[in-house]
Amino acid sequence: MKKYIALTLILTVVIIGPFAYQQWSEAKRLQHIKETKHLAAQIQATSLANYLHQLKQMSPDRVQLLLFTGNTQAQLEPCGCFIGQSGGLPRRAKAISHLRAYGVSPLLIDLGGLQSSHPLGMKPHAAATDPGVLMRDQHRVQTTLTAMEMMGYDAFFPFDAETETVGYRDVSAAEVSFPFLDSELPPDSYLIKTVGGKRIAVVALNINDTSEMESISDKLHSLFSEVEKHSDFVVGLSHSPPEVNKTLAETYPNLSAILSPHEGETEQVGDVLLASCHSKGKTLGALMLTDKEVDLQHIALTEDVSDDIDVRKLLDDFYHQVATDHQLQTFSHRLFSFQQEEQDETNRYIGSQACQACHQKEFTQWSHSSHATAFHTLRTVGREYYPECVTCHVTGSGYESGYQIGNADRGHLVDVGCETCHGPGKQHVYTPLKENIRGHVPENVCMACHTPEHSPGFGALVEQVMLEVDHSRSQPSLKQILEQRMRGPMKPEVELFVMSYCPYGVQAEQELLPFFEKYGDTIDFKLRFIVGKEAASTENGSGPIQFTSLHGEPELIENKRQMVIAELYPEKLFDYLLCRADHLQEAWVNCAKDVELDVGRIAEGVESEKITLQLLEEIQRTETLDIKGSPTLVIDGRMIEGGLWRGKVKETCH
Ligand code: HEC
Ligand code: HEC
Ligand code: HEC
Ligand code: HEC
Repeated sequence: MKKYIALTLILTVVIIGPFAYQQWSEAKRLQHIKETKHLAAQIQATSLANYLHQLKQMSPDRVQLLLFTGNTQAQLEPCGCFIGQSGGLPRRAKAISHLRAYGVSPLLIDLGGLQSSHPLGMKPHAAATDPGVLMRDQHRVQTTLTAMEMMGYDAFFPFDAETETVGYRDVSAAEVSFPFLDSELPPDSYLIKTVGGKRIAVVALNINDTSEMESISDKLHSLFSEVEKHSDFVVGLSHSPPEVNKTLAETYPNLSAILSPHEGETEQVGDVLLASCHSKGKTLGALMLTDKEVDLQHIALTEDVSDDIDVRKLLDDFYHQVATDHQLQTFSHRLFSFQQEEQDETNRYIGSQACQACHQKEFTQWSHSSHATAFHTLRTVGREYYPECVTCHVTGSGYESGYQIGNADRGHLVDVGCETCHGPGKQHVYTPLKENIRGHVPENVCMACHTPEHSPGFGALVEQVMLEVDHSRSQPSLKQILEQRMRGPMKPEVELFVMSYCPYGVQAEQELLPFFEKYGDTIDFKLRFIVGKEAASTENGSGPIQFTSLHGEPELIENKRQMVIAELYPEKLFDYLLCRADHLQEAWVNCAKDVELDVGRIAEGVESEKITLQLLEEIQRTETLDIKGSPTLVIDGRMIEGGLWRGKVKETCH
């Protein structure tokens, strides 16, 4: 007997062991990815709540506070590519109004660098001089300056170069009331404001090197003694290199601090604090001046700080302008300028679909990866027209045959397709050879998009994440697909297409709803219906629109009912559907009553105008995705292969 027990035990270990080990190591891998990303995304800053709490210890009208930003590089707000991002104009505005509401009236300064010479950290290509790109830059700078006006900035100290390239003195000087500081032209080079009962002076400095400093030392001395006469604290705003700032601190020990827009170490030279702000508008610098000490903190602009509504609207107007003006949609940058395949102008992009016929296995694996839904992501957040986002979420951006915004003939190049990693594939599709396609994909191809700004921690994770683009990987389960998508900031959008009287659709509901229910609010579930429209009926022609459904009028009405329930009682939809699944031939009111729904409200909803519009939307959605039968499962706009979820459901209603 003992023998048998031992044998059973050994067999169990042998059979289950490898599987359990696999599960354990996969869980470990995912945990490692999560932790590494989380750590890499952290930013050294104080929360707004914490900062306000510190202010509580003081009397607000005695707070000598200087708030500063700089080198924002045209970043209106964080891209939303990962969880925990900090920054953005709407949140900055909100943080400032919180501080003001508390009773402080700070001095508010921007140190320059609104426009980046290399946005996104990529090399500009020829199109960077494109008039459309320049116009977009100008509109963006204009938007930033207008936002600064709304926030009540006291002064702006632009870089020399940026005023020339974008020319925004002409664009905007007339429209903002705060001065532009100019280090060459005292008294335009400084500003004095009474804050918390004391006078704070800021002085604009731009000195190329220490030898230049010697030659202008007389000028500097008279400037500083003039400024000191009229102020209690003097703060330098410096575009100069670090060694000049150090010498300045040694020569003028009465300065409270020297602030630079170029990120660097905070340092104390005598009594002078040398500090900088976080670039790209990630935080709001806060310099507190008291007779005893100078306190510097960076206020985090993370999710806990909500958007200021007016600045939000300003940004939305800018995006809308780009979305509706084709001229503003040119890419300013192209990826992969270091790869030879992309530079071969005789080859062209052709789209991932063209690869499927010969590489089915790779295609299936890819289509379940998040690369295959990268453009859906942009549609969901409404940035599918904005070149600064589209670049990395499509195939071949910036190349003549690659994706172009607003060009309907290039729709097949959305998403991070096969050719982003393997290079343009037209020649290979017609003459399949190893020589005309990039077989080995080097890491730097991944890194072109997975930059620290958009995918922090990726560099340290290449080995772990390569697994997810490995085409030979075994099919993921539905659970794995969902949980992979949940790692990012976006909720996966799950659409189940059915006809309410289709027995297979109903079976699929029985199979899937209990599974989706477990995910609750972490997924965005939508029940969708496959309906038709009488050819004769027109949307704006005569008479009401006639809808059709495979299983006739009763099905059409049940579809409508379920749509109404989804809207009125979202939390009870699954219970109703599962009850109906068992009692489809009986009266619907029984199930409605079972799960405590208001029968009258539902009947009313079914007759409403709105439902007609919703049905038209359903038709449009099935057409867009080319849905043919019930049931069909779609995640983030991509169909999921039946083998991954159908279970006992063998058939389809067409
Ligand atoms: C008509 C069939 C066909 C189509 C379409 C096709 N391929 Fe291939 N592909 C092949 C064949 C055959 C090979 C193997 C060539 C060899 O070994 O000489 C191959 C090899 C490859 C390789 C491996 C090269 C290597 O160095 O090992 C990659 C990568 C590849 N294809 C990508 C693609 C991509 C991307 C597309 C779509 C743009 C595509 N293929 C379309 C037939 C095709
Ligand atoms: C053209 C730009 C681009 C390239 C090249 C690229 N990726 Fe991505 N990658 C993306 C985008 C965009 C997403 C996010 C897609 C979404 O969910 O919208 C992404 C998502 C991912 C994810 C999922 C992230 C997560 O945690 O959910 C992994 C893993 C990944 N990429 C790995 C790679 C690897 C490995 C390579 C190189 C072999 C690579 N990528 C090359 C743009 C790119
Ligand atoms: C330099 C390339 C690049 C640019 C530019 C870029 N992205 Fe991304 N995006 C990525 C990568 C890579 C990921 C995957 C990040 C990860 O998980 O590590 C991603 C992920 C995302 C996600 C999360 C998707 C999910 O499934 O959770 C959103 C949302 C997103 N990007 C939106 C945007 C928007 C909006 C913009 C423009 C403001 C933008 N991206 C610009 C590369 C880029
Ligand atoms: C995110 C980058 C990425 C995307 C997108 C991508 N691949 Fe790959 N592919 C790779 C990597 C990495 C390898 C492994 C080759 C290596 O050693 O570098 C590979 C290998 C291949 C191979 C060689 C044989 C194999 O299966 O390993 C083929 C064929 C291939 N890919 C076809 C495709 C097709 C077709 C698509 C689109 C449906 C596609 N790839 C999309 C990164 C990618």
